[in-house]
Amino acid sequence: MNQPPSSTESDTPLLEMRSIAKHFGGVMAVAGVSLRLDPGEVLGIVGDNGAGKSTLIKVLTGVYEPDEGDIRVEGRLVSIGNKRQSRQLGIEAVYQNLGLVDALDAAGNVFLGHELKHRVLGLTFLDNDRMAEEAARVLKEKVGIELEDIHAPTHHLSGGQRQAVAIARAIYATDLKILVMDEPTAALGPEETRHTLALMQNLKEQGIALIVISHNLDHVFRVADRVMVMRAGRAVATLSCQTSTKQEVLAHIVDAADIEAA
Ligand SMILES: Nc1ncnc2c1ncn2[C@@H]1O[C@H](COP(=O)(O)OP(=O)(O)OP(=O)(O)O)[C@@H](O)[C@H]1O
Ligand SMILES: [Mg+2]
Repeated sequence: MNQPPSSTESDTPLLEMRSIAKHFGGVMAVAGVSLRLDPGEVLGIVGDNGAGKSTLIKVLTGVYEPDEGDIRVEGRLVSIGNKRQSRQLGIEAVYQNLGLVDALDAAGNVFLGHELKHRVLGLTFLDNDRMAEEAARVLKEKVGIELEDIHAPTHHLSGGQRQAVAIARAIYATDLKILVMDEPTAALGPEETRHTLALMQNLKEQGIALIVISHNLDHVFRVADRVMVMRAGRAVATLSCQTSTKQEVLAHIVDAADIEAA
């Protein structure tokens, strides 16, 4: 669990998004949302369909440019115009079924775009053995899974295993500081869900901060330190998972808490 801030260092959040707004035509998808995230912290984002959760995190990962608002990473004002810039700041997103090349195996995906090579008699070859070894090592040590067959094409892997490969790639490609997961457990069975939640805990222990969007409050409460509730493009509440209940969070999602407070 997150330590209370005690030193000056921990006063500067890892990430701060301030007054972010994004509209699509007449739809105000995100209407002035602010959030902060500390190193190794897990922030859940919940809310009804269309609340603006995915749009908000796509602003962070460089998919959309915000209409308003600013983003600070480790206290520094940054501009995130595309996915590459987001990645350079140590921010990555994984989606369960997106972003893997199905026909390639785990190593092919982990090293996609930055393949390891070796030279023999003046010719350059892909170093497939070293990539397979490295991919297996990262999967085991950093992500906490062992694949039965490291050479299996990823479309032969289960949803949870595919997600693990995508995370291994994120860890390998960058000095990963923030991992964004949009509905990481939505399509998983109970065993794979358990694995994915354990994997998140593992990443958190390595000091990687997570932003986890989910409709499943049980899953959110198992991994998150705090949970932010979005409704109609706004952040209507941010609650501690230690001191709040799922019922309270649910009440904010469906508007009852605000009606009660009024
Ligand atoms: N690319 C887009 N073009 C037009 N409208 C969009 C686009 N993306 C999202 N929207 C709209 O913005 C609003 C917020 O959508 P968003 O996908 O952020 O919601 P969400 O909270 O992630 O919902 P869900 O839980 O269903 O994934 C919705 O009204 C949606 O229709
Ligand atoms: Mg969404």
